[in-house]
Amino acid sequence: MTEELLYAGKAKSIYRSDSPDELIVVFRDDITAFDGGKKDVLAGKGEYNARVSARLFELLEAAGVPTHLLAVEGPGRMRVRWLTMIPLEVIVRNIAAGSLVRNYPFEEGSRLDPPLIVIDYKDDTRHDPMLNDEIVLALRLATQAELDELKALALRVNEVLNGVFADLGILLVDFKIEFGRDAGGRIRLGDEISMDSMRLWDGETRESLDKDVYRFAKGDVLSTYARVADRILGDE
Ligand code: CDP
Repeated sequence: MTEELLYAGKAKSIYRSDSPDELIVVFRDDITAFDGGKKDVLAGKGEYNARVSARLFELLEAAGVPTHLLAVEGPGRMRVRWLTMIPLEVIVRNIAAGSLVRNYPFEEGSRLDPPLIVIDYKDDTRHDPMLNDEIVLALRLATQAELDELKALALRVNEVLNGVFADLGILLVDFKIEFGRDAGGRIRLGDEISMDSMRLWDGETRESLDKDVYRFAKGDVLSTYARVADRILGDE
């Protein structure tokens, strides 16, 4: 059966499934940075991200965070609930890095306590500009009740992931998540949580263990992703 491609993003493709409420997500080996300005293909990368994302979504679901994940269907493939995505990038930051340090006078590596939630508008052509609640409401991207729920869920995700990474000796510097509404209007975590969407530092050496290795050519990207996946997945 040839599956109908519904959408191809920068690193994942979405196909129609045999059920009207479900989709198939394929994690590709493409890697991009700087709004697609830097692009490569790294064989095996999609599978590492898919396995890590599936494991983290399972842990989050078990901790009470509703997600889109239904099943892993072979290497790099997952079956998910069909969500109407909300075009917001919800970023949680525990340690100052990246654009926060470039745009504001935070010292790189300083702890943010309490963690910061930053919400960007998901639109590469506009370079994902930062929003505030008033702009989200004026653009009718979400209601105030939904925004409150997104933020509460984002903090819960942060708590769960901080627990996972603390046990592995990894610092969860920041990460980006996306949400959507399911057929019943319920907000669920969609998209992925992977080495492409988190900033991870080794707890001792502070060496990057994520897409920053690719963005800033800090070393071998694939072997970094493989090492992190092994640490997260243990002896799965
Ligand atoms: O450093 P950069 O300008 O890429 O972005 P940031 O705002 O500091 O990113 C915060 C976190 O969100 C990092 O872990 C990024 O990898 C992630 N992010 C993402 O996955 N996708 C985006 N479009 C933007 C950020």
